[in-house]
Amino acid sequence: MCGICGYIGVNGAATKSVIEALHDLEHRGYDSAGLSRVCEGKVETYKISIEEKPDFTASDLADTIPDFHKPCKMALGHNRWRTFGGINKINTHPHYDNDRLFYLVHNGNVENLKDVEKEIGIWKRYSETDTEAIVNLIAKYYKQGSSFSEAVKRTINFIDGANVIVVFKADEPEYFISANKGGPIILAKGKDFSLLVSDPAPLEKFNITSKAPLESGNIAVVDASGWKVESSRNDNESKKRKKKNSKNNYKHFMLKEIMEQAETFANAFRGRLIHEAGTAKLGGLESLSAVKNVSGMNFSREIRRINRFHFVACGTAYNAGLYAKLLLNRFGIQAEVHIANEFCYSHPVFDPRDAFILISQSGETADTIEVMNEIKIKGNVYLGILNVPDSRIWRETDAGIGIRAGTERGVASTKAFTSQLACIVLLAVFLARQRNMTIDTGQKILFELEKLPTKIEESLKSTRKISAIARKYLEYDNFYFLGRYFNLITAMEGSLKFKEISYKHSEAYPLGEMKHGPLALIDQNFPSFVIIPDDSVFNKSLVNVYEIKGREGKVIALTNKSKEKELKKQVDDLIIFPETLDFLSPILSVVPLQLLAYYTSIAKGINPDKPRNLAKTVTVS
Ligand code: M6R
Repeated sequence: MCGICGYIGVNGAATKSVIEALHDLEHRGYDSAGLSRVCEGKVETYKISIEEKPDFTASDLADTIPDFHKPCKMALGHNRWRTFGGINKINTHPHYDNDRLFYLVHNGNVENLKDVEKEIGIWKRYSETDTEAIVNLIAKYYKQGSSFSEAVKRTINFIDGANVIVVFKADEPEYFISANKGGPIILAKGKDFSLLVSDPAPLEKFNITSKAPLESGNIAVVDASGWKVESSRNDNESKKRKKKNSKNNYKHFMLKEIMEQAETFANAFRGRLIHEAGTAKLGGLESLSAVKNVSGMNFSREIRRINRFHFVACGTAYNAGLYAKLLLNRFGIQAEVHIANEFCYSHPVFDPRDAFILISQSGETADTIEVMNEIKIKGNVYLGILNVPDSRIWRETDAGIGIRAGTERGVASTKAFTSQLACIVLLAVFLARQRNMTIDTGQKILFELEKLPTKIEESLKSTRKISAIARKYLEYDNFYFLGRYFNLITAMEGSLKFKEISYKHSEAYPLGEMKHGPLALIDQNFPSFVIIPDDSVFNKSLVNVYEIKGREGKVIALTNKSKEKELKKQVDDLIIFPETLDFLSPILSVVPLQLLAYYTSIAKGINPDKPRNLAKTVTVS
């Protein structure tokens, strides 16, 4: 959560550069935004929040800056996703200490705030944030005689939790310092400037000649010519304690990303299909042969020895994990799925020959990282299905599969989900071909996979129809999303998307489970979206549709053309999506539900790119 950036350059372009970076970091937090710049030796701070301008952008922040183009060498910027304290200008970063010597932006949560406040001693608060305590602790250590960088090190070691800070000293504006303890930070350099960002999204806008992540446990002193990194570990203290990125012609990133899916889905399998052998080539996994308990030997033979696969993820990525479990099981391979944030408490049972596969779009999700750290201790192999190169999980997993979806900016994940499913199909075919799947079956699946981009295109043509359905059901507050077998996953993902950006209550259920309780809620005011394609469970699902209709429930059915006639008279509305193999069906059935969520949000006047209470990358656990 929270987007942070810093710029220092002899070209004087700090203000403009930080504003541009903040634009591309909006998905990380949009409760408020702020910037501190140093111009001709003087610090100026500007802030904006949704309290004064709902739906503000970085351009609105820029508008508050008088003399915008004045040459300034350094600036820090921040997009806030609040934890400590309400949404207002006062709580907006950058924060400064009581003497206004240090200015700081922060991403994370101080988990021992009371101890930090005690350590500072006597000081005066102006905000409700943990950040203000951090900057005052730096000031305290500095006053005690520590150098600036020593004070930063002592502070980052004192505070608990995953935190990243960037701070400058008003009377030494030739450099700023960043400390990383468990968050994402990238350092980048151009001809006459250095840049720091918490997410790679803004980098495309700059003429970058080199870049490097700032690893957790390190601090960087950054000036216009580059940076110097050193370990922040201080044993005593720690023991104490461009284009692609723009919306093009779409109004929202979410719609742009939904519409890109035919292309991003095809990217996920391009160059990875071996038709003649009916299997997939997953180059990223091949490095696995070089690691720990599967070392040496031939890659295929080593992966063959893995007993069971455990998929771990959160949110949409977790729904992809559910799909992975079902698909691997379908092909006779043992698989489990775990919600990352439950994993460490729930005593999961696994054996040393089991492999873990972390699924994450951002590769920075704190809950998933916690599981990764736990697995490291256990010594199992851990792999990733990931989108963002150089993200924390990407760097630390033993091997992985890149989903190649490109930057995803919409807080509601869409194209990453379908690309995750594509890679899961490749993985499942690869593993199953090592086991019992015949070459013929493998080839049929690959053949169908290649047809899906065109079928996704077809699904995307239903925007008008879906937007009409969104408006028709706008008056209802409660919805079920129902499906069986593979399309239960679509129901879950559809429901998550719907509640996330429309703020309407929705629940996903296995269709056959309705009669065991949930049916009690059905009446004329409780519509159900039922995913009921032409597959082996169609007849069973149809009985459940009758059960809902028999209780005056409204049903919007998502089905295939072949079942249109049969269902037309039974249900209130129909959405048609193209036919495919039953286990590939979620890749197509989820598309109309992404559109439904989008258009419902639009009809309610919500900005789907900035759903309340959420952020794109959840870096707190
Ligand atoms: O970056 P990750 O894939 O690890 O993120 C996991 C979830 O936070 C994410 O999928 C979230 O549920 C989305 N907002 C759903 O649209």
